[in-house]
Amino acid sequence: MTTCSAPGKVYLFGEHAVVYGEPAVPCAIERRARVTVEPREDGRVRVDAADLSLDGFTVTWGESIDDRPDIDVPAPLVEAAMEYIEAAVAQARDAAGAPDAGFDIAVESAIPLGAGLGSSAAVVVAGIDAATRALGTELDAEAVARRAYRAEHEVQDGQASRADTYCSAMGGAVRVEGEDTRTIDAPALPFVVGYDGGAGDTGELVAGVRALREEHEFAADTVETVGDLTREGERLLGDADPDSEPDDALLADLGELMEFNHGLLSALGVSARSLDAMVWAAREAGARGAKLTGAGGGGCIVALDPDPGSQRALEFSTECEQAFRAELATEGVRVEEP
Ligand code: PMV
Repeated sequence: MTTCSAPGKVYLFGEHAVVYGEPAVPCAIERRARVTVEPREDGRVRVDAADLSLDGFTVTWGESIDDRPDIDVPAPLVEAAMEYIEAAVAQARDAAGAPDAGFDIAVESAIPLGAGLGSSAAVVVAGIDAATRALGTELDAEAVARRAYRAEHEVQDGQASRADTYCSAMGGAVRVEGEDTRTIDAPALPFVVGYDGGAGDTGELVAGVRALREEHEFAADTVETVGDLTREGERLLGDADPDSEPDDALLADLGELMEFNHGLLSALGVSARSLDAMVWAAREAGARGAKLTGAGGGGCIVALDPDPGSQRALEFSTECEQAFRAELATEGVRVEEP
């Protein structure tokens, strides 16, 4: 039995713009997906994903996900989760040169689904690493990231950037610009996450921004401006000492850029009433900055606040279902005790 885990992430800057070649800076957070894999002789794949929905589900399938039995959770949720797992299985079979390998797979995740925290990337990254190791092949984190990107790219019809999968595999803060991916030094930023209990449709939201960008030059300029502020944020991180607590000036400057980024995402039509309400709750409680994270439309915001104020205010906000502090996860994908 082999267990691997991989972290979720927040976007400090740059979601959506990264789809058009601008840089983005996602940061891994200490909320992990754990995937346990045991090879099976019969070539079938059985998935037990107790935490991927409120009710949980168990599925066994043979050659294709079309074989799936009736189960008691919303079909789109099961289909989405299974497509990611199927794509991860295909990558692991390919990497290990074992096209007929079967697996028992158990998924546990502390990352809300579809909420902008990179849940699917974390499951795919941990799944590929665990399944290849279970077959006796070890990939380094960069190779896991490349294969996880291919898996996500396939499931999301070519719309995924490398940001989520690279960040989850490598951990820490990373920068992604097109095919150029690298880790960057960053101090332990005091993230607070607010979650509205909902989810956005990434494909639809990305398509919406694409349409706006094609229709209006000012929308294309807005996307470029997100790239400019991301580069400015990278400069601030580059000048900071990664081994010290971030000082007030750095938090104020990063926070200002996050505010700007949220405003521009809102202009691009990907915010939501609940996300704006949570951003305001955090701001008014003293956050140095706050923004939606991920595709938007619903899901999560991330605030920068070293004090307890933002988390408390989010907990009392009617729009917020869950608020938590999220440490920067310095480790990406890793092997765990089963
Ligand atoms: O909501 P998430 O975690 O799937 O993030 C989507 C980020 C986008 O930039 C909108 C799309 C992408 O693939 O980068």
